[in-house]
Amino acid sequence: MTGSDRMTGRRIAFGAAFLLFLASSLWCAAALSAESGEARAPDWSAALASADKRRGAEIAANGANGGPPCRSCHGPAASRRPGLPRLAGLNAPYVARELFAFANGLRPDDEMRAATASLTPQDMADLGAYYESLRPAATATAPAPGEGARIHIDGVRGVMPCGQCHGVDATGVTDDAPSLAGQEPAYVVKQLGAFAEGARKSRSAMNDIAAKLSDEERAALAQFYASLPPRGAAP
Ligand code: HEC
Ligand code: HEC
Repeated sequence: MTGSDRMTGRRIAFGAAFLLFLASSLWCAAALSAESGEARAPDWSAALASADKRRGAEIAANGANGGPPCRSCHGPAASRRPGLPRLAGLNAPYVARELFAFANGLRPDDEMRAATASLTPQDMADLGAYYESLRPAATATAPAPGEGARIHIDGVRGVMPCGQCHGVDATGVTDDAPSLAGQEPAYVVKQLGAFAEGARKSRSAMNDIAAKLSDEERAALAQFYASLPPRGAAP
């Protein structure tokens, strides 16, 4: 065997070992992501199609599977409270997906994680149908013009206008973009911060969008939304 034969032999052996290593690490990575991967989202279309708002009302009043009643924090009308969002009138697909996000740590909140731990996806859809059916109390003052309104309609520094997804009147347009009209302002500011930091994982573009807004802009938007009448508001 000449020296160069030996070199070729080593190269082939090394190449084969490397390929084996590559294949086994790929296999490991695939197995790992299958095991520790994020909880798979349920089939919402089926759960929402058979959602039962009376069962949702029952869970809100008495809890399910040992979990706390929702109204112990959100109140019987699920109106906005200081620091707490208004749930009345939010759309069902949005509510169901958020409950799932709390339960699976995609949206961090200790109280809501505990409140959702025992819920099944069908419970979440039932709760969504219930809150969608509640008519929110009218909380509007007069639409506040100014910077918030401007960013909502026109966007800012290349940020897409909020109204394109949340609706010009901020009552929600796409199935998953929630109504912001009449929402609690401190809650809205907190959510924009959580999106910006990536603590709340968006299914849409909210992480990027919120990160581009200044604190002043977030506050102005929250004031603008608080001044609008919520979707389906009782007159
Ligand atoms: C111990 C108090 C507490 C209980 C009980 C509770 N919640 Fe909450 N809920 C909160 C808080 C606090 C937030 C705001 C979390 C945040 O800042 O992200 C919240 C937020 C939410 C949101 C998010 C709204 C949005 O606009 O994204 C939904 C939906 C919700 N709760 C539904 C429920 C349901 C359904 C139950 C009952 C199964 C429930 N909550 C029980 C305290 C509670
Ligand atoms: C491309 C569509 C899109 C645009 C543009 C958009 N949003 Fe959103 N937004 C969403 C979706 C979808 C959600 C639902 C949560 C998620 O992304 O997981 C959301 C959620 C939110 C929430 C949380 C509401 C709650 O009840 O917790 C706030 C606040 C919000 N958006 C504000 C804004 C503001 C302010 C702007 C403009 C600067 C904006 N959004 C632009 C799609 C959009």
